[in-house]
Amino acid sequence: MDNSSPGKDSSLEQPDRLPATRLLHEGLLRSRFEESNAAIYMSSGFVYDCAEAAEAAFASPGSRFVYARVANPNAAMLEAKLAGYEGAERCFTTATGMSAVFSALACLLKAGDRVVAPRTLFSSCYYILHDILPRYGIEVTFLDDPGLAAWEKALSRPAQAVFFETPGNPGLDIIDIAGVSALAHKAGALVIIDNVFATPVLQQPLGLGADVVVYSMTKHMDGQGRCNGGAILCSQSFAELLGPFLVHTGPMLAQFNAWVLFHGLETLEMRVHRQCDTAEEIVSFLAERAELSSLRYPFLAGSACEILARSQMKRGGSLVTFDIAGGKEAAFRFMNGLRLISISNNLGDSKTLITHPRTTTHQKLSDAECAAAGILPGTLRLSVGLESARDLLHDLGRGLAAIPPGE
Ligand SMILES: Cc1ncc(COP(=O)(O)O)c(C=O)c1O
Repeated sequence: MDNSSPGKDSSLEQPDRLPATRLLHEGLLRSRFEESNAAIYMSSGFVYDCAEAAEAAFASPGSRFVYARVANPNAAMLEAKLAGYEGAERCFTTATGMSAVFSALACLLKAGDRVVAPRTLFSSCYYILHDILPRYGIEVTFLDDPGLAAWEKALSRPAQAVFFETPGNPGLDIIDIAGVSALAHKAGALVIIDNVFATPVLQQPLGLGADVVVYSMTKHMDGQGRCNGGAILCSQSFAELLGPFLVHTGPMLAQFNAWVLFHGLETLEMRVHRQCDTAEEIVSFLAERAELSSLRYPFLAGSACEILARSQMKRGGSLVTFDIAGGKEAAFRFMNGLRLISISNNLGDSKTLITHPRTTTHQKLSDAECAAAGILPGTLRLSVGLESARDLLHDLGRGLAAIPPGE
């Protein structure tokens, strides 16, 4: 769709606008009313001046809006903004992050194909790979070790797709995007990366060799915990598989949610950097605390993942994962001792949230599956929001003080 605004001479635009500026200004489709902000187009259908116009629209798909499940103005604006920021040829938005993950895999794979993935994944991503794809005759090889040697071994025989999150949810494992992409391409596989934890502000996998990037827009892109959404960024050739799959299976993003997310993206850079600033302060605070048996953060000085994380991410992100030495009981005491930070299974909100993955997001997994994914009874995932760092440190101190001595 042509997203240029009527009446504007685009030749006068500065060609090298920086990403933060582009996030604010790109994608807007103005109506003839010349509104300053995007309007909401709540219409499932569109009409034609004459029968010939309807016939022409169906003869050249994409030339105009025909039906909201196929494309609609609010989703089109959002897709143009995100594709421009990420430098992707195409962007498709979906109702949720999970419909984006499933659609990216399902449009590509068929019976007899093989996927390689690590075991540290968000539980619904794991469910798709572990429970759903094998029902359709697709083989999935899981790696317990995210290191390149394990990928090399798994990709020594042909595969059609590689899927991973980096940093992974909730263990924050870092996977070498360029290294795995090179191995995957040699094995004949496309690389699909769930970039939710890093956001496009901190990491752009397409530039590192990945083929497809998926997002839960529900997280940092909305950024205020208001609505669900998903996105898939890819090349034109992948879009030829994905486009018809989405049109005919129908996981479209609702117009209102697309409008919310369009405005969420405008402030994404500013929010993510502020959340990183605070996360760094929290990491320094937690590193000194004896109540923790381990602390995980991509840029944690001296950690096993630090060098790789710094080579592919701009900053360490807004998620901090740590283990309370006293296990589940001490972790629950800590959470129940918090007054400012909310207990939730969500992340990427403007408000700071704490999650106990073993009993919530990853409750259905076995102990062995959780152990392989680095989820222990005392593991907690903190999603750092926009509150003042001082108040968050105070609250974390209050939670730690609620753990009985010796636990
Ligand atoms: C890494 C990751 N991918 C995908 C999703 C799914 O997103 P949604 O809830 O929007 O379907 C989540 C949700 O927590 C997630 O953390």
